[in-house]
Amino acid sequence: MRLIVCADPREATRAVVDRVVGAIRDRPDVVLGLAAGGTMEWVYDGIVAAHEGGLSLARVTSFNLDEYVGLPPEHAQSYHSYMRARLFDRTDIAPGRTYLPRGDGDPGAAAEYEALIAQHGPIDLQLLGIGQNGHIGFNEPGSDFASRTREVALAEATRTANARYFGSGETPPETAVTMGIGTILEARSIVLLALGDGKADAVAAMVEGPVTEACPASALQTHPDATVVVDRDAARLLSRTAI
Ligand code: PGA
Repeated sequence: MRLIVCADPREATRAVVDRVVGAIRDRPDVVLGLAAGGTMEWVYDGIVAAHEGGLSLARVTSFNLDEYVGLPPEHAQSYHSYMRARLFDRTDIAPGRTYLPRGDGDPGAAAEYEALIAQHGPIDLQLLGIGQNGHIGFNEPGSDFASRTREVALAEATRTANARYFGSGETPPETAVTMGIGTILEARSIVLLALGDGKADAVAAMVEGPVTEACPASALQTHPDATVVVDRDAARLLSRTAI
């Protein structure tokens, strides 16, 4: 696992954007694994800026990590909507090559998603955020490291953290479809971005703690090409600042 500690959120975000833009420049038909969440909003802004500067995403294929179950794709808080608003509608990426799990509760949706990844993958570069509880995708603590795409119950901590995006009277769904940890680990390269003091505990557990299902992100310690990019606040509890 490589660790990059940046001075501030802007520099950390820039490091991740540069990595994604570089991957697209090197291979215009790259297969990207994408993540939703607040942290990634700035990353998508950076990719959009690169597109406005001439970078084409027309041949890129993308697979998102997860989607809530029970929100139709048009729902403002669905990750389908998030991705359209943050990236897809702002670039020339081909809509037919952007994949997200279906959150319609169909029991076949997870296996279908695995089959799509098998058909179009492997994923060359997987972007990840991290939850305050150490989750990656919606693989909550206790998730099997061999897990595949499946419907999971969201931890209360996750529903609380994400409630800020929902309107008053609305609460986040109780379940989601997420790529499994085993699915994520099959990506050729992984880049995880964590910003801010609120992620410091999770970052320390992921980078310096034991490899344990209690911290799903610690699975990245077993991956041959995983890079963790953090700002100083998120690195606050690390005893080392480079690995
Ligand atoms: P955040 O979410 O970027 O909104 O903090 C990250 C995650 O939960 O994986």
